[in-house]
Amino acid sequence: MSGVGLLAGKVVIVTGAASGIGQAAARLFASEGAATCLFDIAEAANEATAASIREAGGAADAFTVNVGEEASIAAAVEAVIARHGTLDGAFNNAGIEMANKLVPDLSAHEWHRLMDINLTGVFLCMKYQAQAMAERGGAIVNNSSGDGIIGQPYAADYVASKHGVIGLTRAAACEARYNKVRVNAVLPGLILTPMVEERLIGNPAFEKQMAPMAERHSIGRYGKPEDVAEAACWLLSDRSAFVNGALLAVDGGYTAR
Ligand SMILES: NC(=O)c1ccc[n+]([C@@H]2O[C@H](COP(=O)([O-])OP(=O)(O)OC[C@H]3O[C@@H](n4cnc5c(N)ncnc54)[C@H](O)[C@@H]3O)[C@@H](O)[C@H]2O)c1
Repeated sequence: MSGVGLLAGKVVIVTGAASGIGQAAARLFASEGAATCLFDIAEAANEATAASIREAGGAADAFTVNVGEEASIAAAVEAVIARHGTLDGAFNNAGIEMANKLVPDLSAHEWHRLMDINLTGVFLCMKYQAQAMAERGGAIVNNSSGDGIIGQPYAADYVASKHGVIGLTRAAACEARYNKVRVNAVLPGLILTPMVEERLIGNPAFEKQMAPMAERHSIGRYGKPEDVAEAACWLLSDRSAFVNGALLAVDGGYTAR
């Protein structure tokens, strides 16, 4: 399968690959010819995802990684280089949902935990990925959110982290002349994944946002993980060679109004 497809011959990391958007991305990237390196903290689900990709004829290896820990990321990127000798792309997608609290009720502990994973985790992944890409260059796609450019009640922790991912993306994109690494972001709307369907729907604070959110997805539906995977795939491919520092909304119109 590695000879054909949009990502043929490329070695690509996907973080948060064991579920939702990351899992759909890993499946798509492998079907487009990439050797996929699946990073996730959920070891069994990650191994199972990699096995199912291999069964479908794709190339996938699972790496148990906590993106909240620098040493874990550094070791995993090193293991990718030991396995493949190179790194061409990365989709930094791992993230957790908001604590669903108003600012006065949000604890510093909750704030720091989310920032460690959703923002510092993306920074640290980029740091080691860009080092690994130094010789040949490459492409990085960060998963922000519509909440990376607009606000939302009960979500200051999440909204701040996703705005931060956009700042990080833009700043790193400005460094492309120094390291030949293109950096872009995808901004998903509400995507029906385990994060949303199993953990957010049913939470009273989140449900208050559902009606106005549904109205803003002017295309008339919520997103599927595959919708976001397609955008990330194109941004990692050579077909987007002149796209750098872009914020690509994949949100059915959510942030258009
Ligand atoms: N679902 C949505 O509506 C939506 C919208 C906008 C942005 N996003 C973003 O998309 C990304 C994926 O979300 P999803 O909806 O697919 O969620 P999900 O919960 O289905 O999947 C997230 C994956 O990340 C992994 N993960 C969590 N913490 C980790 C850590 N510390 N180290 C390594 N892996 C870790 C989980 O094990 C899981 O496999 C997140 O960054 C999320 O903020 C989601």
